[in-house]
Amino acid sequence: MNPQFQLFPDQASATAAHLDHLTLYLLGVAAFFSTLIFALIFVFAVKYRRRSEHERVAESGHALPLEIAWTVIPFGLMMIMFTWGASIFFEMSRPPDDAMNIYVVGKQWMWKTQHLEGQREINELHVPLGRPVRLTMTSEDVIHSFYMPAFRVKFDVLPGRYTTAWFNPTKPGKYHLFCAEYCGTLHSGMIGWIEVMEPAEYERWLAGGTGGESLASSGQKLFEYLACANCHRTDKPGRCPNLTGLFGSKVQLTTGETVTADEAYVRESILNPSAKIVAGYQNIMPTFQGQVTEEDLLQLIEYIKSLAKQPAQGAAALGATPPGLARRGTTSPPAGPAQNPKR
Ligand code: CUA
Repeated sequence: MNPQFQLFPDQASATAAHLDHLTLYLLGVAAFFSTLIFALIFVFAVKYRRRSEHERVAESGHALPLEIAWTVIPFGLMMIMFTWGASIFFEMSRPPDDAMNIYVVGKQWMWKTQHLEGQREINELHVPLGRPVRLTMTSEDVIHSFYMPAFRVKFDVLPGRYTTAWFNPTKPGKYHLFCAEYCGTLHSGMIGWIEVMEPAEYERWLAGGTGGESLASSGQKLFEYLACANCHRTDKPGRCPNLTGLFGSKVQLTTGETVTADEAYVRESILNPSAKIVAGYQNIMPTFQGQVTEEDLLQLIEYIKSLAKQPAQGAAALGATPPGLARRGTTSPPAGPAQNPKR
C-alpha cells in the first residue's frame, strides 16, 4: 500500500489482523444500517407525504413479523460484536506463558526499555520475530500510554503501578512507537521505534549491546548495596522473610490475609514495607522510597524472581518444616546446611 496514504497501519502481529477484521465488521454493519435508515427516511418522506390540507392519518395496526425481525436481527448482530470483541479482548489480555519479558518505564518525555539480559534502550525497542513479547510497564511521573499502532497495542502506563501488554511480531521491520496520553509540553515528541528483527539478527544485536549484566544480577548488586541481605538472609532464618522461592508464591500476612507475591507486591514491600507484614515477622523494615528509582525496582524484582527459579534450597528439609512455617513459603528451613552460592 502507498505509505503516504494508509487507511490502516501495518499489520505486524496476529492480533492486528483479528482486530482489523472486527473493526471492518463494525464499520460494515454501521454503514449498512446508516444507509438503510437514511434511504427509508427519504423514501417514506416522499411516499407518505401529506397530499392535501384535509388529509388525516389512517389507523394503522401492528406488523408482528416485521417487529420481530427488526428486534431479532439487530440483537444477533450485536451478539456477534460482543462475543467477537470479548474473544479478542481475552486474547490481548492474556500473554502466553512463553512470552519474553521486557520492562518499560515512561517518563517526561521518553520511553526507557530494559531487556532481561541487561540491554537498555531509549525510545527504541528491538524484539525478535515470531516470539511473544510481554511488556511490564510503569511510569516515573505522570500517566503515559504506550502505543504501537502496527501491533494494535495501546496501554496506559501509570505511576506507582505495573500494567502489562503483549504482542507477537509477525513481520520484520521498523514500526512507530507513540505516547498516546497527553503528558505535558513535549508529549508529541515522546515517540520512538520498535524494530522487529530476524531471530539470529536479534541474538547478534543482543550480544553486541553494552548491557553486559543481566537485570537480575544488577538487582543482586543493588540488593547487597542496600544491605537488604542483612535481614533477608538466605542461609539461615533472618529477621525478615527469606526471599528464596518467594516470587509467585502465596504469602500469609499478619492480618490473616493471603496475597500472591507478584511485581506489585514486591514493589510495595520495598517502598511501603508496613503495608503488608508477613505473618510471624515484625514491622521493622524501613522504607526505600526516594532511594530507589523505578528502574532499580525492576532490577530488584528480577533478582527476587531469579531466586524463585533456583532449585529450592533444601527442598527435602522444607518437607520436614512444621506446616505453619511451610505455609508461609518465605521462611527458610530451620536447619540445614548453610549455603549461599551467591557469596
Ligand atoms: Cu507521555 Cu504523552
